[in-house]
Amino acid sequence: KQERKESMMIALNYAKDFFVETMQKNEEGNAVGLGYFRERGFNNQIISKFDLGYSLNEWNALEQNALKKGYQADILAAAGLIMQKNDRQYDRFRGRVMFPIHDLSGRVIAFGARTLKKDDKPKYLNSPETEVYHKSDVLYGIFQGKNPIRLKDNCFLVEGYTDVLAMHQAGIENVVASSGTALTEGQIKLIKRFTNNITVLYDGDEAGINASLRGTDLILEQGLDVRVVLFPEGHDPDSYCREVGSQRFGEYLEANAKDFILFKTESLLKGAENDPIKRANVTRDIVQSISKIPDPIKQSVFYKECSRLLGIEEEILVDEGRKLKSKEI
Ligand code: UTP
Ligand code: MN
Ligand code: MN
Ligand code: MN
Ligand code: MN
Repeated sequence: KQERKESMMIALNYAKDFFVETMQKNEEGNAVGLGYFRERGFNNQIISKFDLGYSLNEWNALEQNALKKGYQADILAAAGLIMQKNDRQYDRFRGRVMFPIHDLSGRVIAFGARTLKKDDKPKYLNSPETEVYHKSDVLYGIFQGKNPIRLKDNCFLVEGYTDVLAMHQAGIENVVASSGTALTEGQIKLIKRFTNNITVLYDGDEAGINASLRGTDLILEQGLDVRVVLFPEGHDPDSYCREVGSQRFGEYLEANAKDFILFKTESLLKGAENDPIKRANVTRDIVQSISKIPDPIKQSVFYKECSRLLGIEEEILVDEGRKLKSKEI
């Protein structure tokens, strides 16, 4: 079993090298893959730091090369690199730029792969769950980001692979990506090994805002301090950094990081000012979030602050919070 996992990881590492070499040395790889990263403004240092590569637009490029090198088809399939259907066998990743996903110690355990065609679906094709890739325990960028996260005592959480790249290129290296889904408990525990502070940088679209409002209670529950930065409509960290430059991007983060509970209160209150029913529901929602915070001192500070923002007596909020808490158990 352990031996099989080992073989899968060796195969994944080989695939990473193959995709990297294809992008650097193959004509198609150079023109299409490297050309794509260049056009998006990513430099060689970032491309090599993240082992970015390219998969040829052919059915069996990786498979044929791998078999020639002695890798076994069933290991390649178990690692999610090739697909076996009926009696046909073909590469999972074709004609895409490749983002290897590393574990904490830097071993490649999976790939994200972006299409280069507009409107092609899915935009990102990812490795399936495998014996070595448990999506819910992994964060993109944790290997490259762990020491900076520890040093800065803060972890920026972004949605996308390219947001991680752009931030590293801007000199902000304490960053990981959730890869578009809400954080799991395993992922939060992973961050907690390095810091107790998370700053959530979700895309400035409705999906991003909703994701940051919804996914965050779990982080509070784990005792982390959460801040949020919202980007202008239509921007994600990568596009915004590209638009304003590294210097101003860093300043923007500093100036706009807002405590999550206050952010949530203010965003939910918008549009509910003159609607008592809505405001009651908002209040309950906020109290719910506050009641998850394990530290009683922090909890009390937030009750006080939100009592002011919501215009509701602190004692009522505290009581409601206790009720919600006791219902949970
Ligand atoms: P986004 O749609 O915001 O993409 O999804 P992006 O990261 O900004 O990508 P670019 O800039 O268009 O290249 C955020 C993340 O959600 C996951 C990926 O991890 C992506 O980076 N995702 C998105 C998928 O896994 N599959 C998809 O089809 C789309
Ligand atoms: Mn699993
Ligand atoms: Mn998005
Ligand atoms: Mn983007
Ligand atoms: Mn995005």
